[in-house]
Amino acid sequence: MRIDVVTIFPEFFSVLDVSLLGKARASGLIDIRVHDLREFTHDRHRTVDDTPAGGGAGMVMKPEPWGEALDAVLADAADAVVVFPTPAGELFRQPIARALAEAPHLVFCCGRYEGIDQRVIEHTASRPEVAAVRELSLGDYVLNGGEVAAMAMIEAAGRLVPGMVGNPDSLVEESHEDGLLEYPSYTKPAVWRGLETPPVLLSGNHAAIAAWRREQQLDRTRRIRPELLGD
Ligand code: ADE
Repeated sequence: MRIDVVTIFPEFFSVLDVSLLGKARASGLIDIRVHDLREFTHDRHRTVDDTPAGGGAGMVMKPEPWGEALDAVLADAADAVVVFPTPAGELFRQPIARALAEAPHLVFCCGRYEGIDQRVIEHTASRPEVAAVRELSLGDYVLNGGEVAAMAMIEAAGRLVPGMVGNPDSLVEESHEDGLLEYPSYTKPAVWRGLETPPVLLSGNHAAIAAWRREQQLDRTRRIRPELLGD
């Protein structure tokens, strides 16, 4: 899989060299390229923003540098999925992570300030080398820019790429894969600071363990995220 990131803060993405994603990157499983948007400006101040049309607070990212950056990134692309992280986007959830993991090429466009001129999104969708454009929100809160959101989306999608996670079974039994929150986990010792591991987990009775875990999932989801059950 190839992933391109366009940002005015390329240094944010140095953490992509850490942990599982770092290994996948080093082994060539995932080819991640980070681009500085300012490289696609032509003025002395390397300007990427301007005042909003129609007035209002804040600044808007100019379309010209974005157009040139995407011309370069998409030059040899086919079937790229281009993601614009924005609090005004569709909520990023596990099914979207699964869909992104199946794309051969992802491009993340990280906006700052009040966002990117909307024509960039419109124009990107009309490019023949682009399979889909997605405006995605990490959650109902506002970050300073798309970088942290892009990083979360890259990690969520990247770990679903075959070969990324050592034991693929661990991907099946986790929160959100079946629409529920995950059951609580325990390891040794059986008693720690007076607190016991639930005895059923030490019983060796696989059916009882599966039933207990399911009950825990339902109970936890009912308490913490009832909307996932449609309640
Ligand atoms: N940029 C700023 N806030 C964001 C959010 N919640 N999700 C995605 N991108 C963002």
